[in-house]
Amino acid sequence: MGAKPLKVALLGAGVVGSEVARLLVEQSDDLAARVGAPLELVGVGVRSVATDRGRWIDPSLVTDDLQQLVTGRSADIVVELMGGIEPARTLILDAFAAGASVITGNKALLAQHGAELHEACDAAGLDLYFEASVAGAIPLLRPLRESLAGDRVQRVLGIVNGTTNYILTRMDESGASYDDALAEAQELGYAEKPDPSADVEGHDAAAKAAIIAGLAFHSRVTIDDVYCEGISSITSSDVAAARAAGYVVKLLAVAERSADGRGISVRVHPAMVSRQHPLAAVREAYNAVFVESDAAGQLMFYGPGAGGAPTASAVVGDIVAVARNRMSGGHGPRESTYAALPVLPVDVSLTRYYIAMDLTDKAGVLASVAAVFAEHDVSIETLRQEGHGDDASLEIVTHDALESALAETCASLRGLDSVRQITSIMRVVGE
Ligand code: HSE
Repeated sequence: MGAKPLKVALLGAGVVGSEVARLLVEQSDDLAARVGAPLELVGVGVRSVATDRGRWIDPSLVTDDLQQLVTGRSADIVVELMGGIEPARTLILDAFAAGASVITGNKALLAQHGAELHEACDAAGLDLYFEASVAGAIPLLRPLRESLAGDRVQRVLGIVNGTTNYILTRMDESGASYDDALAEAQELGYAEKPDPSADVEGHDAAAKAAIIAGLAFHSRVTIDDVYCEGISSITSSDVAAARAAGYVVKLLAVAERSADGRGISVRVHPAMVSRQHPLAAVREAYNAVFVESDAAGQLMFYGPGAGGAPTASAVVGDIVAVARNRMSGGHGPRESTYAALPVLPVDVSLTRYYIAMDLTDKAGVLASVAAVFAEHDVSIETLRQEGHGDDASLEIVTHDALESALAETCASLRGLDSVRQITSIMRVVGE
């Protein structure tokens, strides 16, 4: 072959970084053949050089001088897998200034400072690839950015956080309480200890939702634009009620075009998903993203959303793509934000709702409950009553309704003498 090696600098040698190093070593011949030049690891930047990095990382390559690694070793490609905002942001900007393309899995950084990074990349005529930042191994961002570039995406629904999907699966399948399912997820290493909030409060999914929405709708979306509710207030009775009604509770990242096409809604919240919907079958820590577009119709991308080797697969795929661009003297697609669709506030988003309440069943109660829905212009799709006398319960699923109208409906229902309590309110997603 004889081509000059392409130099790769790796920042971070944790669970994913060490697997990236392994793949680069184990598959070096195949990767060289696919790229047209060998990939040479020129350094591995870490916080502590004293830690043993395992058999795939040559100790002589390990350094804690990250700045020197990025700017002083003529790297063609810098792979950032450190996480966090700083020093990752500055190192990436330095890499572009030094003429290196960048691959990152850093969703928090992209969701907050994506515009700055893309602008620096474009100005330098380089590449910024980030497939591993959303849904681990699943090829999703490149399909959105490239394969669906000729289509018009209407909606993306994603299970993009494995930890919360694991917790909700345990609650659904074994009737576990939220606390017990969370403790189990922590024991298995899915949820952080002692503070699991990045996952359970939806922040991780919100960063991913911002990245997905930006690509799907050719607009700039940051994490601050994303409405976010986590799963920490979901009870076992919410999950059991959903199960009895033919639904499963999932934490969804939703990005959708508004009915008039003039804006988008981007949000993360628990939702009841019909057991017939493909997303309902996504169990445990798996991720899946369901895309609805005008020409392609419905697509689903499914697979492991985290873990060392699966995430490294996405990173090394990006390394090969960027290396090929480098070999051909060009670069991949630029950030596309021409549509500049505004992100609409959540209270104007339309969703179906499930409302369950305990009530006293006597003549006229159903009419008074239905009148409250009508008063607020919330249309009822289905209604199911069980029990009678003081022990009755009513479950209602609405047609698409405004969040603000639903909130007013529930406030009025609480004012009815016959409604003892509203036991569950949840969004319903999918047919
Ligand atoms: N903590 C994430 C999850 C993986 O549970 O899916 C990294 O984004």
